Amino acid sequence: MGLETMSATLESAVSSPGLPWVFVRERSTRHDVVVSEIRQPLIRIRDVEMRYPSERGEDAARVLAGVNLDIHEGEFHVLLGPSGCGKSTLLNIIVGLARQTAGTVTMRGRVIRKPDRERGLVFQNADAAIFPWLSVLENVEFGLRMASVKKAERRAIALKYVDLVGLRGHEGKFPHELSGGMKQRTQIARLLANDSAVLVMDEPFGALDAHTRRIMQNELVRTWRETGKTVIFVTHDIQEALLLGQWIHIMSKTPDANIYKTYRAELAYPRTEANPHFIELLTRIQGHFDFGSGI
Ligand SMILES: Nc1ncnc2c1ncn2[C@@H]1O[C@H](COP(=O)(O)OP(=O)(O)OP(=O)(O)O)[C@@H](O)[C@H]1O
Ligand SMILES: [Mg+2]
Repeated sequence: MGLETMSATLESAVSSPGLPWVFVRERSTRHDVVVSEIRQPLIRIRDVEMRYPSERGEDAARVLAGVNLDIHEGEFHVLLGPSGCGKSTLLNIIVGLARQTAGTVTMRGRVIRKPDRERGLVFQNADAAIFPWLSVLENVEFGLRMASVKKAERRAIALKYVDLVGLRGHEGKFPHELSGGMKQRTQIARLLANDSAVLVMDEPFGALDAHTRRIMQNELVRTWRETGKTVIFVTHDIQEALLLGQWIHIMSKTPDANIYKTYRAELAYPRTEANPHFIELLTRIQGHFDFGSGI
């Protein structure tokens, strides 16, 4: 199939009216992603492999192998996969905190070599992310201070996001005085205050109670839709994936973890679990995780 025909096929499959979701592909390869090269992706992941060195110094098994993904500006991508399959590893590579052992990751055509303000990360473990010697407000302001935003302005921005994540009244507290969920909300407020173009979120709502979690999910969708930011979001929770994402990538198990299947969820926002299309897609994705399914 020629490049243009493939592109037309994919585009029409993705945009067919009336379809609640579209199964896009199995096991992405370099060949599959060629179709989207017509529209320049914001982030391009090509043939990424990751091996961590073993304790004895020799090469360990490959955690990731042959990961290919294109992320266009303004899209919301969710990565779903079993524990230990390399989701955090892939996010760390995308933000520039880890370096893949093979393959390339670019943003706007430039190789990602280190973290920068364009890509903000919410870490899976908030303790690793927030500074213990700074208060909630100072933590939220931190990136703005680094960017030399004037004090009054950065304080106003930080307070807005402290409010949004429900931490008003706690802004003077230090991390050792916070619960796990409060630390996580501090990280999320900092990410939003920093105004990065790409929000990279590693199970950001895992430590939150169900009520706060729902508020944060709604706020994230609202922020994403209002600002046109690009979101890359990791979760274990299929329902959460379906409440949030336009693209849902299912990863296989390590070693040699890869993007095993990709769905495009065509459900309108705000989404609810009661929607029959939601249930249909949920059941389908759930099937990939059932015993013996290969993931
Ligand atoms: N710094 C490291 N050094 C050595 N091995 C590592 C390192 N970080 C991760 N690994 C290994 O890489 C694999 C993938 O880990 P990763 O944290 O990326 O998984 P994950 O999908 O995010 O898991 P979870 O859902 O539990 O957070 C695991 O086998 C882990 O032991
Ligand atoms: Mg992880």
